[in-house]
Amino acid sequence: MTCDFHGWVFDSEGQLADVPGEELFGDFDKSKLGLKKVSVDVWGGFIFINLDPEPSVSLKEYLKPLNDSYDKYLGNKDWTWSYGWRAKFNANWKLLVDAQIEGYHVDQTHRNTIAGAIPGSYAPADAYPESIGVPARVCAYRPEEMTGVQTDVALLSAKHGATSLYTKSENEFTAKDGEGVLSDHPLWIFDAYLLFPNVVLFIQKGQILVQRTLPISPSECLWEVDFFHTGELEDFGQLFNSEQGRIQIRDVLTEDLYTAEGIQMNFNAGVIKEIQINKQEIAIRAFYHRLMSAVKGTGESK
Ligand SMILES: [Fe+2]
Repeated sequence: MTCDFHGWVFDSEGQLADVPGEELFGDFDKSKLGLKKVSVDVWGGFIFINLDPEPSVSLKEYLKPLNDSYDKYLGNKDWTWSYGWRAKFNANWKLLVDAQIEGYHVDQTHRNTIAGAIPGSYAPADAYPESIGVPARVCAYRPEEMTGVQTDVALLSAKHGATSLYTKSENEFTAKDGEGVLSDHPLWIFDAYLLFPNVVLFIQKGQILVQRTLPISPSECLWEVDFFHTGELEDFGQLFNSEQGRIQIRDVLTEDLYTAEGIQMNFNAGVIKEIQINKQEIAIRAFYHRLMSAVKGTGESK
């Protein structure tokens, strides 16, 4: 590994191997100038970095209830990065997370897009009070009869693949072919897990998306999303479906995230001081319980 700044070279163990112009330095001991160690571990094909050199909790323990089956489902497939976006928001980072872990907003926020395909009442949530790093998840199922926006383009797209969120695909999302770890519900669409504190991982059949939200200040954050798919696109129809899916999810995410800036403006104005959270939004409750325990430094997850 070569540092782009002055060209210092480190070997695969992190030891400093070569320094251009080494004679320019005075008392110089390369053996003491290796890279700093960090702890890394792998789950689901993702590399997690822990800045604590001796973590008190293993990654596997941290991610319960995401078990070995999920690890295999995600880690053994050949996922390819498809596309992603990054944007700065004038909102606290937690508001961006909130928007992804409850279904209650769907019928109103997404009334022009996915509300007919994934109604809020079909997105139940679970909390995991015993988990250290996964406070909650939201699942999504299709209703038997889909309503809402069924455009000609979306219907055509749905004939060629499974990326369309607005329309019932002829190539179902469901995990009925025995991949096993995911829901056996015939109309299952996705599971969304909150990986505490700032990652939301959506798992679908053939597609995963990872959202990360990074604080800049109390009222600003960076938000990133990456999409990964399995399988090669084999014909123009599949390419069309893929592109159609990309545009649809872009619109849905746009609807989601800009509400955060409006909420932040109300906070800034001192108008809104608290938010009412209902039973359908239990994942948000679980998120803030976990967050408050972390802020208090108790290390408890409840
Ligand atoms: Fe949404």
